[in-house]
Amino acid sequence: MAALLCALCLVLATSLVPCRAGHSARALQEGMLYPRESPSRELKELSGIWSFRADWSQQRDAGFAEQWYKQPLRQSGPVMDMPVPASFNEITQDPRLRGYVGWVWYEKEVLPPGRWLRKEDGTRVVLRMGSVHYYAIVWVNGVQVTEHEGGHLPFEAEISRLLQDAPGKPCRITIVVNNTLSPHTLPPGTIQYMDDDSMYPKGYFVQNTRFDFFNYAGIHRPVLLYTTPPAYIDDITVTTGVDGNVGLIRYLVSIRGSAHYSLNLTLHDADGVTVATGDGPDGQLKVPNPILWWPYLMHERPGYLYSLKVTLSATVDGRVSEDSYTQPVGIRTIRVVDTQFLINGKPFYFHGVNKHEDSDIRGKGLDWPLVLKDFNLLRWLGANSFRTSHYPYAEEIMELCDAYGIVVIDECPAVGMKDSKNFGNKSLQHHLVVMEELIRRDKNRPSVVMWSVANEPASDLRPAGYYCRTVIGHTKSVDPTRPVTYVSNANYARDQGAPYVDVICVNSYFSWYHDPGHLEVIRLQLSTRLDNWYDTHRKPIIQSEYGADTIAGFHADPPLMFSEEYQSALLKEYHAVLDQKRKKYVIGELIWNFADFMTEQGTTRVLGNKKGIFTRQRQPKASAFVLKERYWKLANESSCLTPAKYDDVCLP
Ligand SMILES: *[C@@H]1O[C@H](CO)[C@@H](O)[C@H](O)[C@H]1NC(C)=O
Ligand SMILES: *[C@@H]1O[C@H](CO)[C@@H](O)[C@H](O)[C@H]1NC(C)=O
Ligand SMILES: *[C@@H]1O[C@H](CO)[C@@H](O)[C@H](O)[C@H]1NC(C)=O
Ligand SMILES: *[C@@H]1O[C@H](CO)[C@@H](O)[C@H](O)[C@H]1NC(C)=O
Repeated sequence: MAALLCALCLVLATSLVPCRAGHSARALQEGMLYPRESPSRELKELSGIWSFRADWSQQRDAGFAEQWYKQPLRQSGPVMDMPVPASFNEITQDPRLRGYVGWVWYEKEVLPPGRWLRKEDGTRVVLRMGSVHYYAIVWVNGVQVTEHEGGHLPFEAEISRLLQDAPGKPCRITIVVNNTLSPHTLPPGTIQYMDDDSMYPKGYFVQNTRFDFFNYAGIHRPVLLYTTPPAYIDDITVTTGVDGNVGLIRYLVSIRGSAHYSLNLTLHDADGVTVATGDGPDGQLKVPNPILWWPYLMHERPGYLYSLKVTLSATVDGRVSEDSYTQPVGIRTIRVVDTQFLINGKPFYFHGVNKHEDSDIRGKGLDWPLVLKDFNLLRWLGANSFRTSHYPYAEEIMELCDAYGIVVIDECPAVGMKDSKNFGNKSLQHHLVVMEELIRRDKNRPSVVMWSVANEPASDLRPAGYYCRTVIGHTKSVDPTRPVTYVSNANYARDQGAPYVDVICVNSYFSWYHDPGHLEVIRLQLSTRLDNWYDTHRKPIIQSEYGADTIAGFHADPPLMFSEEYQSALLKEYHAVLDQKRKKYVIGELIWNFADFMTEQGTTRVLGNKKGIFTRQRQPKASAFVLKERYWKLANESSCLTPAKYDDVCLP
């Protein structure tokens, strides 16, 4: 029924029937192209200061009861200024708002250009949210236009009709956000009511989570308006291959708004030279002697991108409607063969990091200076890859991974799944939709070489077998071109999901959470652990996390826990073992973590998790230099840069 209703909403898209049936059916039916300007498309970013109001009522439901979306938010009661994008948690001096759980209201008034609203042009105006954590409902001028579950993926709604109905008037966008997590959300959480009235006030509750980062909330990525003509390019799917010295680009374009159209495609190289052309909604382009998309440090021009310009000419109600969209394309291949991960036929070794989208004041809000600083640190470090621990990162970050050749293991927000309640069919259905939304968003990105469907689930529980098989199977059916993994910290013999992955990713914290202080046990324990995983499953293995908390400026020699010396020594013990195993089956190592980050408060966390090799302010600890030395050595060993004629060596 939900699917039917939503299909109907799409058919009636221009009549703006609010799509109340939820998001699930839409994931498969509509595209989610990254908004780009073109002669037929305009963008208007709505970043800046929004009005904000948290709902402090007992049930957090006053905003709905009093319909705060019906009039300007300031007329409902006191509002404050709130930046977008940002988490609301770190902005004010109010400790209650920092730890707030429930609904908060955001509002912005914008004046769309008059040329967008001429009815006879049929211009589509789309409101797009890059990410709102966790649950969002959106109104325009008091009319609900969409809702979305899940904090890290984009969603949008066409709002043209509503704007045309109020020409010359500001358009009022209201977004209500709920950061409450349940056993069936991704990530999951629970609300615990404390009913001992000798210890807690009436109605007192806390939100519990079992993941190790702060549940920052709010509008985390840009909100924008963009336009398309009435007949438009809705989605593009590109897959690439190499046949001898010819690059192959298979494409599928989906058009909406007209059944009468013609479509041309032109492929330009990075210098703007046309290298191939095509027409029609699906086909294949051939590129003689292509420059392949190579990872950073594997080629003189890492991250080489072609531009695929798609041009549409359609008729709508007897009028011509033209659209164009330019999709970056990296030509590359990925294969997992025996114990190797091959990019363009060449063994790839992941020497990289795990990250968080985390900073002091903005929380998880997109922060351009931080984004660029982090890429510069990655390149300084000699890192060629990262995992988007533990949720999809901003599209703006993914754009730069494509352009710089930073390889990505793209992880969905399934983290903290520790209870059997997290493995039921309700969680599973949502998980499948999240994977569809993630693939829809990132499928054309050459930097994305593998999907990670979860981090450290309780994969030794019985229901985890069916659950993992279903999620991984579904992911492979939606995207047959990329390997799939999840990250395990379960016992190798009891892990129920490992049979279904292409690459085994294992986390371990020897001489930290186990045998704390005993660096001397690492070599034996790590070696045994890795051999056990390999002997049981015969698949390539990535050491997907290892590390130690370190307070910058703490020193101790001989090394003691929390000192910079201890973190460096621990890393070196791990590296000794990884150097043996990478000759056999280990295909990568990702440090936990790139930088310190915020967590819930607890007795083992000192203003957050301190396992960064950089501080939260992005200054290096001693371990950063240990890792830099190692990563450049690894890069030099595997690089194709040394021989003068790298193409002969690098190209398959
Ligand atoms: C939103 O917040 C309320 C109050 O905190 C909670 O009870 C409810 O389950 C949440 N609803 C959704 C859809 O997330
Ligand atoms: C595609 O190319 C053909 C042939 O050059 C041309 O007639 C047609 O108008 C073009 N269509 C679009 C949408 O550009
Ligand atoms: C989940 O759905 C599957 C397939 O419909 C069914 O076999 C299984 O029993 C269900 N599991 C639970 C816990 O309801
Ligand atoms: C890696 O190679 C570069 C260029 O040849 C060289 O400058 C650098 O010292 C090497 N680094 C290591 C750690 O071997």
